[in-house]
Amino acid sequence: MMALNTEVRKSPQLREVEGIPLQPATVDNWSQIQKFEAKPDDLLICSYPKSGTTWIQEIVDMIEQNGDLEKCQRTIIHHCHPFIEWIEPPQPSGVDQANKMPSPRILKTHLPGQILPPSFWKENSKIIYVARNAKDCLVSYYHFSRMNKKLPAPGILKEFVETFKAGKVLWGSWYDHVKGWWDAKDKHRILYLFYEDVKEDPKQEIQKILKFLKKDISDEILNKIIYHTSFDVMKQNPMTNYTTFPTNVMDHSISPFMRKGMPGDWKNYFTVAQNEEFDKDYEKKMAGSTLTFRTDLRTIEEVLMDFPPRF
Ligand code: A3P
Repeated sequence: MMALNTEVRKSPQLREVEGIPLQPATVDNWSQIQKFEAKPDDLLICSYPKSGTTWIQEIVDMIEQNGDLEKCQRTIIHHCHPFIEWIEPPQPSGVDQANKMPSPRILKTHLPGQILPPSFWKENSKIIYVARNAKDCLVSYYHFSRMNKKLPAPGILKEFVETFKAGKVLWGSWYDHVKGWWDAKDKHRILYLFYEDVKEDPKQEIQKILKFLKKDISDEILNKIIYHTSFDVMKQNPMTNYTTFPTNVMDHSISPFMRKGMPGDWKNYFTVAQNEEFDKDYEKKMAGSTLTFRTDLRTIEEVLMDFPPRF
């Protein structure tokens, strides 16, 4: 069990749009973001934070570049795909970057469906959504909040668990996000993926993406993409590991962006009591939804072999 304290730092005060906590600059520019003009040939990569967004971005980029590594190294992944609600002056806003980009564009968002710029629905743009189980997402978000100075400081894990459960984090409730997009997938062109599935069988999940994008690639390129988008390779790649950001934005000595990349890591952080309490609350919040997650990829036999239990 790891107990980690966080340093005292000046945290940005989040503001809300329709009850969703967002970055203050996003709220200040909300009308510009809402008026964003999506196009029918846009592809939007969407997720709740810490669900494997960067991973899917890199997979999609490698597909788009037909596996050409040099082209994939042209710039950091953060700049390849404008992040539509993100505003960090003096950098151009996500909307400005997208407006300057030639089509077909690939864009990124963490917005919940109900506050997505309406043109995405109207223009029927393609959307890839990636979801990750709540407990691993929470642990990853906790560490990311420790190292990313643009996010509110998370406090100790016990406090962050409550903040997460209450949806008082940037981009709001995990529960509402994953459920909202799950329901939306039946009405729009959305490919709904799971982090755990990509980890277990990247080939199968990349093939789903290829089908969705109507792309065809050779087995050789497919294998190349699987290798170059694996955790260990992306962790070493400065274009995908966020180490090019200054330490006053992301401090990798506190926690690296590419941290564990493993389903089930939550077991190293939750106590038995915390886990039971979390599950009880989870049942209530997810009641009535057909959406289910895997919180570990190991078989029952492998879990039983892991003695004494890790939590
Ligand atoms: P961990 O903190 O659990 O390691 P996002 O891109 O949405 O911010 O998600 C970041 C999380 O996805 C981090 O999780 C990161 O390590 C993980 N991740 C990124 N690339 C990955 C890959 N190729 N394989 C597995 N996990 C990956």
